[in-house]
Amino acid sequence: MTTILVTGGAGYIGTHTDIELLNKGYDVISVDNYVNSSPVALSRVDRITGKHVIRYDGDVRDPQLMDRIFTEHHVDWVIHFAGLKAVGESVAKPIEYYDNNLGTTLTLLKAMKKHNVKKIIFSSSATVYGKPKKLPLTEESPVGGTTNPYGTSKVMQEQILKDVHVADNSWTIVLLRYFNPVGAHESGLLGEDPKGIPANLTPYIAKVVMGELPQVQVFGNDYNTPDGTGVRDYIHVVDLAKGHVAVIDHITKPGVFVYNLGTGHGYSVLQVIHAYEKACGHKIPYVIKPRRPGDIDACYADASKAKRDLGWEAKLTIDDMAASSLNWQKKNPQGFRGAKE
Ligand code: NAD
Ligand code: UD1
Repeated sequence: MTTILVTGGAGYIGTHTDIELLNKGYDVISVDNYVNSSPVALSRVDRITGKHVIRYDGDVRDPQLMDRIFTEHHVDWVIHFAGLKAVGESVAKPIEYYDNNLGTTLTLLKAMKKHNVKKIIFSSSATVYGKPKKLPLTEESPVGGTTNPYGTSKVMQEQILKDVHVADNSWTIVLLRYFNPVGAHESGLLGEDPKGIPANLTPYIAKVVMGELPQVQVFGNDYNTPDGTGVRDYIHVVDLAKGHVAVIDHITKPGVFVYNLGTGHGYSVLQVIHAYEKACGHKIPYVIKPRRPGDIDACYADASKAKRDLGWEAKLTIDDMAASSLNWQKKNPQGFRGAKE
């Protein structure tokens, strides 16, 4: 039996990944302190799969807790999702962001080393490419030039993990650079549950559709893109989750492996709004606003390496992303707050 320890296993990408792992017959252990999630999400994973995620409620920065987990279980692979991810908040709270993102990684690696567990998948981000000089972005595109502590913490964590392999080449280090994960599980039981007013585009659009916010603010229509609005590579969270399973199924030798997980296609802000209009069946009000500081014109992946090495490619469309996200939002207007298991 292969056992996967998932840090941040109750989060948005974590829960969707738990499901794909359980469905493939892997045993799943989650460790999460619920700083940005709810234990209800894990109960829903159990409900959807008819299987059980083993739960540890606590902080990955707690060395005793991590030691206990590795003592109580034989772990084959670790998937490290735990961390803080709000770009704007990271600018206001750099100490908390570096503490959590670097602290979880270092404590986790120490426990893994002690218990001789040497296979890890790390949640990195397309943000590590900074302002792209050339599109699409390949895994060889230059890394750096990040403009906020969140992005810089991802660059640093990638470096820490690469250095671990330099010191001991029996480690398997997989750095997955996610593009823009959106959408929700088809059951409508799991989805993205941001606290307060969403900073990211698709949760914001969903709130406008629900009537909780008056209109979408389109940040800039003078970018160097076909319709002038920003272009991104949106990827369905279920496809993204399957990418992690593909890594575990295909990577059998030590080394450092880097993969872009994206669709390879860019959609503009207006195209995303139109996909949501199709999904809800009515017009969505929007207003053009000035550019958001730090935003880039366009960002999309060359996703061919993951297809070649892992046999993985994103299958779900922008329409699937919009429809599933609204299904989740309608069934859970308050997210997991007050939600029944
Ligand atoms: P999320 O906030 O939903 O999930 C992260 C989980 O980690 C949450 O359940 C949170 O409670 C938990 N957590 C945070 N700090 C912890 C700690 N110290 N100890 C224990 N648990 C802790 O975020 P997500 O969207 O699922 O993202 C997962 C990972 O993927 C993150 O590392 C994020 O930076 C990365 N990522 C996300 C995106 C995105 O747009 N969603 C894009 C690129 C990369
Ligand atoms: C976000 C993260 C980035 C991460 C990436 C991948 C931020 C600021 N950046 O990128 O670190 O690597 O996800 O997951 O969170 N937009 C609007 N109106 C809105 C919100 C956004 O027009 O209300 C536009 C933006 O200008 C951009 C696009 O929509 O063109 C997507 O924005 P967003 O969802 O915030 O994601 P990114 O900025 O691409």
